[in-house]
Amino acid sequence: MKPEDYVEQAIAIAVEAGIAIKDIYLEGNFDKEVKSDNTPVTSADIAAHNIITSALTKLTPDIPVLSEEDADIPFAERAEWQRYWLVDPLDGTGEFIAGSGDFSVIIALVEHNRPIMGIVYVPMTEVIYYAIAGLGAYKRSCKGELRISSRQLTCDDEPSLRLAVSRRQDPQSVLKLFNQSRHCDLVVLGGAALKSCLVAEGRADCYVRIGPTGEWDTGAAQIIIEEAGGQVMDLELQPLSYNERESLENPNFIVVGSTHLPWDELLVSE
Ligand code: IPD
Ligand code: CA
Ligand code: CA
Ligand code: CA
Repeated sequence: MKPEDYVEQAIAIAVEAGIAIKDIYLEGNFDKEVKSDNTPVTSADIAAHNIITSALTKLTPDIPVLSEEDADIPFAERAEWQRYWLVDPLDGTGEFIAGSGDFSVIIALVEHNRPIMGIVYVPMTEVIYYAIAGLGAYKRSCKGELRISSRQLTCDDEPSLRLAVSRRQDPQSVLKLFNQSRHCDLVVLGGAALKSCLVAEGRADCYVRIGPTGEWDTGAAQIIIEEAGGQVMDLELQPLSYNERESLENPNFIVVGSTHLPWDELLVSE
């Protein structure tokens, strides 16, 4: 089957998980724990994980599911996977706990180590971003559906660089990476997937994540950005890897940017 044969069912699964997250968020009554890597997890992460993994397994019993909230699956077991679902049930757990509302549900389909379909659902705005390799990237909301482009809001004669940054990140550490002759505007918003979607729809030029990032954080965002005309790469301007090594983290810094910008000139070399 082709990814377009699953996309609507996978979107429905992301929405179902998002509704469960939103219910817990609005109720304001959730359990919180700290995982072995010292990051938080809540009962909303687990509820979304359970909904998505059981629904995807039912939808495509032959395609394995890999979620952030799974127990570690050894590389020896997953290395042979031709296709798998790569899931972050709740991206932006910190934002969920802080009450900013800027969190999302991520489902990607990876084939031969490359994301070929991606869905990012934003429960609080009920916006869906999705893309399928070769078929474009789209934003669906109560206003309808439109094809998105990472270039659309950027004027060629506008010299400023619009950077998507986290509320919790020191913007100076991001700005240090860029040639300071360019004026930088900061666009502040929650989790990794949402910031990536801002780039995909042309509301920001770039999102830099400083530090290791899980493959589930970037899988869906990568195909959405690529189909919107942008790119996802590390700071050596190399592509990210998927399911090619034991660790599910990409160790380098990640740059998500529109292809119309001269990244090799913009980034300050070490
Ligand atoms: C995190 C968020 C955060 C980003 C981290 C991610 P999580 O994901 O996307 O914004 O800076 O790299 O791990 O743990 O909330 O799913
Ligand atoms: Ca997490
Ligand atoms: Ca995440
Ligand atoms: Ca998560």
